[in-house]
Amino acid sequence: MDKNIVLIGFMGSGKSKIAAEIGKRLQRDVVVTDQLAEAREGMAIHEIFKSKGEKYFRTLESAIIKEVSLRRGIIIDCGGGIICTKENLPQLKVNGIVFYLQATPEVIYERIKHETHRPLLQGPDPFGCIKALYQQRLPLYSQADHIIDANDASIEAPVVEILKKI
Ligand code: S3P
Repeated sequence: MDKNIVLIGFMGSGKSKIAAEIGKRLQRDVVVTDQLAEAREGMAIHEIFKSKGEKYFRTLESAIIKEVSLRRGIIIDCGGGIICTKENLPQLKVNGIVFYLQATPEVIYERIKHETHRPLLQGPDPFGCIKALYQQRLPLYSQADHIIDANDASIEAPVVEILKKI
């Protein structure tokens, strides 16, 4: 199996934990697109948004997707907004199987309500923002090859389901 395993989904859907666990079980490299963006810019994601803007971040994110999607046999943990740039998903599918980790806005809000590092959710109404973004993005996330239920607090079921499908 030299296809990449690509995880997409909303902030707080559990991508990072699930990617790390799959990487451990399959002994494969895990690439985190947000970490690459931070390393390249030498600053945290929220600082990139603040000093250079979202458009700049999306361009950087797409360049990273182009590079990592050329690799083989790795796990790719994508930032929640990768589906916002239309080239990204087809590019990731060239050599990867894409899994959308689906969690409801309510579950997402409960998971991330005390976090402060996500620039898009720092306004006065984070739950309203999650619901609006979720509605907007759902049709895009749904273009993944597989949709995986990630509502449970435990990552075991989604990990096993993904491993069965590859
Ligand atoms: C974003 C999700 C974040 C990060 C940035 C934008 C989004 O990644 O890329 O804050 O637009 O949904 P996570 O999904 O890993 O939090």
